Amino acid sequence: MKIQIAPSILAADFIHLQSEVDSVLAAGADWIHVDVMDGHFVPNLTMGPIVVEALRARTDCPLDVHLMVERPEQMIPWFAQAGATSISVHAEATPHLHRALQLIRSYGLQAGMAVNPATGLTSLDYIYDQLDYLLIMTVNPGFGGQSMISATLKKVRSANERLAQLGRTDVPVEVDGGVSVHTIGDLAAAGARIFVAGSAVFQAQDRRQAIAALRAAAQQTSGSRNA
Ligand code: DX5
Ligand code: ZN
Repeated sequence: MKIQIAPSILAADFIHLQSEVDSVLAAGADWIHVDVMDGHFVPNLTMGPIVVEALRARTDCPLDVHLMVERPEQMIPWFAQAGATSISVHAEATPHLHRALQLIRSYGLQAGMAVNPATGLTSLDYIYDQLDYLLIMTVNPGFGGQSMISATLKKVRSANERLAQLGRTDVPVEVDGGVSVHTIGDLAAAGARIFVAGSAVFQAQDRRQAIAALRAAAQQTSGSRNA
């Protein structure tokens, strides 16, 4: 499974969003990760579908929308129509996770389940047939620039094992939070394949070099779980 590097625009300079996105795409980013926060599910408020629409007018690159919102069902159509490629919803945020994933897929988009650091993987057993990727939060969601919680590595490993038991080795594990050249090797060795990186990319002096270094470090240790 290919390594994907997805810079999170949460760490971008918003007054220059267009050139920020152009710059990471030119530097080799595979996806753009869009962190949507509602001020309820997480203690921060960020961007809505208008930003996704503006990005979509600018690029054909995959736009990975991470909904850190309560009751995501009502917002899924907004982001689908705005041009998202994939949408993840938190297992903690809705009593209707299965329905939310179905709704994402009904727009022809990739559906992801996201889980906070303290949330287990039990739901996986019941929704795995509706899943295109699994987002494991490696920090508590809400803010960029935090350190990876190392206990989440164990969850990345268990997730890959469970997905294999469920016959879904095609479902990649995405990790989000505290991804850097220092942590990405362990995450890749644990079986993560999609890496969200905010500060590690946007705060780098040389973004091309930063993305190349992340990719190289991930590729170096991902071998054991690479097909
Ligand atoms: C956290 C967000 C992350 C965040 C990652 O709630 O979901 O995507 O932007 O930022 P870094 O890479 O700086 O930890
Ligand atoms: Zn995110």
